[in-house]
Amino acid sequence: MTTWNAQFYDSHHSFNTAYGKSLISWLTPLKTEIICDVGCGTGDLTQDIAELAGQVVGVDSSVSMIEEAKQKYPALEFQVRDIRELNYQDEFDAIFSNAALHWVKDAEKAAKSMYASLKPGGRLVVEFGGENNIRQIVQGINDALDRFGYSQNKANNPWYFPSVAQYCNILERQGFVVRDVAYFNRPTELEDGEAGLRNWITMFGEVFFEEVPTEIYEQMILSIEDQMKPVLFSNGSWFADYRRLRIRGEKSS
Ligand code: BEZ
Repeated sequence: MTTWNAQFYDSHHSFNTAYGKSLISWLTPLKTEIICDVGCGTGDLTQDIAELAGQVVGVDSSVSMIEEAKQKYPALEFQVRDIRELNYQDEFDAIFSNAALHWVKDAEKAAKSMYASLKPGGRLVVEFGGENNIRQIVQGINDALDRFGYSQNKANNPWYFPSVAQYCNILERQGFVVRDVAYFNRPTELEDGEAGLRNWITMFGEVFFEEVPTEIYEQMILSIEDQMKPVLFSNGSWFADYRRLRIRGEKSS
């Protein structure tokens, strides 16, 4: 299971939040509304939504992320909750989620829990990694696991990157009406220059390297960097091959 280092996330991976701001334009919060930010991380977008909405609640399954969010934004409400079991009933005018749902393999359960949490007619606005998101990075990690004799660790892949059809079907099965969909490449410049890819892998891909001794891990990272450099490195920066799936839907009224 991935455990989160909230401070490292904030100091080295703030691009997720920066890109998430454009998703708020799909949400169009109103001053009369109560909104839930699902997978809120350290709360930066929750704060942006709070400036536009009547009330907002940020939820995340990571205790360290929620602790950090509470410290940064003490006036806002944050709660540790699992997306698959939000345990709200007809509570929110809208649910917003940025860069979180690709961590939830049980997408049916997540959709069911979000559906229950919305008021009738409530809006769902979500963005996360779609089919073939970070395909090159995953390939690079898998190839290194094969080369170094850790092929079995490929099964630790923690991510779920569905196609448009797969995710829309899941939402529709729960009763959502899907209104808008976008599926697009978004090459994303990683922070920290030369160290960008290794820092990204350390932050997000730790589970691939379970039981790998530190010195072997170091060699694997060097080998991944060598393989990926011609594809994902240019002008002193690494670019992750992100591909986003953005959906706006509604709970039937
Ligand atoms: C993403 O935002 O697409 C992502 C972030 C971390 C790990 C995997 C995917």
